[in-house]
Amino acid sequence: MKDFSSARAMKFTESVIREMTRICLKHSGINLAQGFPDFAARAEIKEAAQTAIQADLTQSAITWGEPNLRHAIADKFAWYNGVTIDPETEITVCCGSTEAMISSLMAIVNSGEEVIVFEPFYENYGPDTILCDAKPRFITLHEPDWRFDEEELTQTFNNKTKAIIINTPNNPTGKVFSREELQFIADLCLKWGVIAVTDEIYEHILYDGAKHISIASLPGMRDQTITINSISKTYSLTGWRVGWAIAPAPLTASIRKVHDFLTVGAPHPLQEAAATALRIDRSYYETLATEYEERRDFLSGVLDDSGFRIYRPHGAYYIMTDVGHFGFSDDVAFALHLVEKFGLATVPGSSFYSRSSLGATKIRFCFPKKKETLEQAAEKLRDFKKDREK
Ligand SMILES: Cc1ncc(COP(=O)(O)O)c(C=O)c1O
Repeated sequence: MKDFSSARAMKFTESVIREMTRICLKHSGINLAQGFPDFAARAEIKEAAQTAIQADLTQSAITWGEPNLRHAIADKFAWYNGVTIDPETEITVCCGSTEAMISSLMAIVNSGEEVIVFEPFYENYGPDTILCDAKPRFITLHEPDWRFDEEELTQTFNNKTKAIIINTPNNPTGKVFSREELQFIADLCLKWGVIAVTDEIYEHILYDGAKHISIASLPGMRDQTITINSISKTYSLTGWRVGWAIAPAPLTASIRKVHDFLTVGAPHPLQEAAATALRIDRSYYETLATEYEERRDFLSGVLDDSGFRIYRPHGAYYIMTDVGHFGFSDDVAFALHLVEKFGLATVPGSSFYSRSSLGATKIRFCFPKKKETLEQAAEKLRDFKKDREK
């Protein structure tokens, strides 16, 4: 049969993470591959959604977002990120940060322009650049502390560079970009007229006293930054699909157009509930970080005991590990072994790199899970260890 697929769609593969989830289901395993929480969201947020549905908020909201939510986003961005924005002209509410990212890139990038992407990257960024016909330029974050080479980054900026994608705290490495690193990037953006597109969905999941800095808050960057966020990670609501892009008014006008024709809008009642989430008591964020830190420490300890080399994350909810010394042919072979023999799903490191060899000895674990789930995962890791010692 003739293949009617577009050349564009053929340039990237299906999500490796979701594929690992399917294999995990087949083996009735524990899923530490896909980063979604298996615990309940806060009762008042769920109640707000129920109330909104009962109140018949059934039709589409304004395409760029329910005013109540946009005001809540602006208020929170002022207190937490230190940037004052106009909710009328500088916010586009989207279907998750996934849609906010692709709508933003499509709104700013012309065919053939370059977009700088740090690797290892969140797996959507590669396909995102392909979908907007950009040329991705990859800059490696080097383990163990995932720093970039300043000279390499400086040399990569040029007249064709349109945007640089930043993700802090970072998936998959757990890196939290420091003020100095962000200032270095900001100086290059200002010099070359480049837009920073920053995905900050893990902004409250921080460990060891790490501080989240928004590049939009650095001098001169407010007008050259698109800040992307969502309710998915902070409020454990990955299935509600409510996110947003914050950008200066002229950019927002373009993002809103793309967004309108891609999705029209995020679910109306869930936007109302998202506004409730964003106005939650501020102590919630401290509890969130503390609980995640306990999970990080638990899983790090088990991985360490089981012989994995771990890169300790300072933010987000993933642990990148090195498994080269276990003697498998590559990361995919190792991940398949772990899920097929022991029922524990993870993500092969190569899926986070443009050059798969850079991830060939790495495996990512995620830990947004109940204590019981992590205990079960620990059991499987102990089985793995015993099997190796045989
Ligand atoms: C860095 C990063 N950005 C975006 C997303 C997707 O977020 P959303 O559910 O808001 O689309 C994820 C999910 O894992 C992520 O890790």
